[in-house]
Amino acid sequence: MPVITTAITGATSGIGKITAMELARKGHAIYMLVRNTNKGEQVKQEIISQTGNKDIYVIECDVADLQSVARAVDELKGKLFGINILINNAGSAFVKKELSKDGFEMTFALNHLGHFLLTESLMPLLKKGQARIINVSSEGHRSAKPNFDDLKWEQTPYKGIKAYNISKLYNIYFTKSLAEKYGQTGITSYALHPGVVLTNIWDKVTGFMRILFWLIKPFMITPEKGAETTIYLATEPRLEQKSGLYFKKCKVAKTAPNADNGAARNRLWEISEKLTGAKTK
Ligand SMILES: NC(=O)c1ccc[n+]([C@@H]2O[C@H](COP(=O)([O-])OP(=O)(O)OC[C@H]3O[C@@H](n4cnc5c(N)ncnc54)[C@H](OP(=O)(O)O)[C@@H]3O)[C@@H](O)[C@H]2O)c1
Repeated sequence: MPVITTAITGATSGIGKITAMELARKGHAIYMLVRNTNKGEQVKQEIISQTGNKDIYVIECDVADLQSVARAVDELKGKLFGINILINNAGSAFVKKELSKDGFEMTFALNHLGHFLLTESLMPLLKKGQARIINVSSEGHRSAKPNFDDLKWEQTPYKGIKAYNISKLYNIYFTKSLAEKYGQTGITSYALHPGVVLTNIWDKVTGFMRILFWLIKPFMITPEKGAETTIYLATEPRLEQKSGLYFKKCKVAKTAPNADNGAARNRLWEISEKLTGAKTK
């Protein structure tokens, strides 16, 4: 059987690290797209020693930096004929408003825009690999409304949790648009909520979210459990009919009504093309 080639962002900790480890155990070739290559190399060695799979590669990719994403894409294009699975997993929340190198609000830059450029630029490889694209979203999308007219939070007072939830709504828009635009090419796309998972993402939260964190900590699931739906979407056969859908606990789940807004979805696509210079192929 040919080896399945999987590229994953945010494979250095939490859900992404476990996903990379378990897919390596199943024999996938893993391309870890990481911002910190020293950390990436350490995790790579851990994966090799725990799984015996040596087909693990580290590619530098700061997803919040469009030039870094473009360099990673060039590297992957130089190394690979095709990609079978792309897992857009890296993500974070920012308590205080920060701007990316390109001048975008950080949550938007990392959780959506960088992954948009990555996915669109890898399209030739994804088409050759008849790829599944998996976007790690969140139940946080339920309370979100798009902020297209104020993406840099210049008119609205910045709230980290709000920015995070909006970015996770955009992950669902992106998933549905990918399924719609590329369905004919054999590419499929899925979004998921991993559960409330005890990972480093909670380290930075303050204020009310910090109190909430301490209250819910005993009930939070492990990264192993949190990775289950991503691994399911990467490995389960015959998911084609479910392309564009949102999953929880390895099952299709309903999104919030807001996530079904086709006009908003198209608007996000147009904005993202304009901001990244990527063109739909
Ligand atoms: N934990 C939860 O309860 C929960 C719930 C719903 C959704 N999610 C989603 O699950 C995904 C994974 O999060 P997690 O909980 O596993 O958190 P995590 O342990 O903090 O892992 C986040 C990963 O993203 C990477 N990353 C951060 N900024 C990056 C950048 N600029 N470029 C490239 N990689 C970057 C981190 O790299 P470093 O190792 O270098 O920091 C790390 O590998 C996220 O999309 C998150 O929104 C999590």
